[in-house]
Amino acid sequence: MKLKTTLVHPPQVQVPPGNPPLVAPIHQSVKFEHDTVAGTLAALRGEKEGYFYSRSRNPTTQLLEQTLAGVQGREDAIVCASGVGAIAQALFGLLKAGDHVLCFVETYAPTRSLIRRQLARFGVSHTMLSVEDNAGIERVLRDTPTALVIFESPTNPVNRIADIAHITRLARAAGAVTVLDNTLAGLHQHGDTDIDLFVHSLTKYASGHGDVMGGAVIGARALIARLRPEFTHFGGTLDPHAAWLIQRGLKTYLLRYEAQCQTAFEVARFLAGHPKVVRVHYAGLPDHPRHALAARQMTHFGTVVSFDLRAGRAAGDRFADALKLFAIAASMGSPESLVIPPGLMGPYDLPAELLALSGLDPGTVRLSMGLEDADDLIADLEQAFTQV
Ligand SMILES: Cc1ncc(COP(=O)(O)O)c(C=O)c1O
Repeated sequence: MKLKTTLVHPPQVQVPPGNPPLVAPIHQSVKFEHDTVAGTLAALRGEKEGYFYSRSRNPTTQLLEQTLAGVQGREDAIVCASGVGAIAQALFGLLKAGDHVLCFVETYAPTRSLIRRQLARFGVSHTMLSVEDNAGIERVLRDTPTALVIFESPTNPVNRIADIAHITRLARAAGAVTVLDNTLAGLHQHGDTDIDLFVHSLTKYASGHGDVMGGAVIGARALIARLRPEFTHFGGTLDPHAAWLIQRGLKTYLLRYEAQCQTAFEVARFLAGHPKVVRVHYAGLPDHPRHALAARQMTHFGTVVSFDLRAGRAAGDRFADALKLFAIAASMGSPESLVIPPGLMGPYDLPAELLALSGLDPGTVRLSMGLEDADDLIADLEQAFTQV
């Protein structure tokens, strides 16, 4: 062969059986070949094992899917390019014109927007309540035929806790699919509930280093099989390199999550005793309105702590400016601690009557714990309080 041809067709190195690498390799290939047309067709029809095109399936993303399903306590998963991608593709994959969705004011703003704007354009209606409104949830699921309920627990940013058993029991009776955005709770929590489909932003705790985005849906094999062609056709595929980074992050997931929860508890206790703070939103504190429910549903109360600053919005922004260790930045679950001040806080898309239900105060500040020492973070908060 001439050099040009040799360069395009390098030799393949096969790892011998019984000699696996300790870290799974990245299959950074869009295409996989079969020896014959008949073999290719057999793989495409599912008659034999194999891969063809990485938008549908790739060994590196598949490894991540299997790992995530195992951690969340379900049979299968699909990964994709971001948390919002997972939510959007799941909603569009499960719903059709004429369907009704039950959703909540406290839900992540882009999810609310997907339901209120994009799905509405395709003839999907919704009812929006507070996730703590047990009677309202019961009324809607009794009186309005509902295809799907989507919610979070704890909610972002004010850590409201959903009564998961109440929602799943009523939804099951009404024939509605339950979707729990479990991003804040983490992959290891709520697996023992009757939730049909978990969605996650892998951008946060799974990857854990703030350097890669990803999303996942996790559920029973049949439901995931129904969604897989939808995801393939929407095309928000996770790149194998991103999947590999997330897989690497997962090795330290629980250590990081536990450490960040411990810091969150210490910070929440400090804030609860501070005279400039009106209210602390953290389900691990005994005076959180749903602490007992959270303690029944969760093993860890989360890494996000929000609080309402007595002096209000402008002071909240000055407070964030004064912090040295907390970066003014989006997201959570990274090694660095982060702050979202009132000036950057949603939900501006909501009408006044729904905004009033959201639990947000003009002085609400959200803190997301990193991996720094809790004493240093508390000292930083202490010095920032002196500036407002
Ligand atoms: C609860 C929740 N769901 C979904 C997302 C979206 O994830 P991504 O940024 O990976 O699209 C976020 C991001 O902050 C979130 O907080």
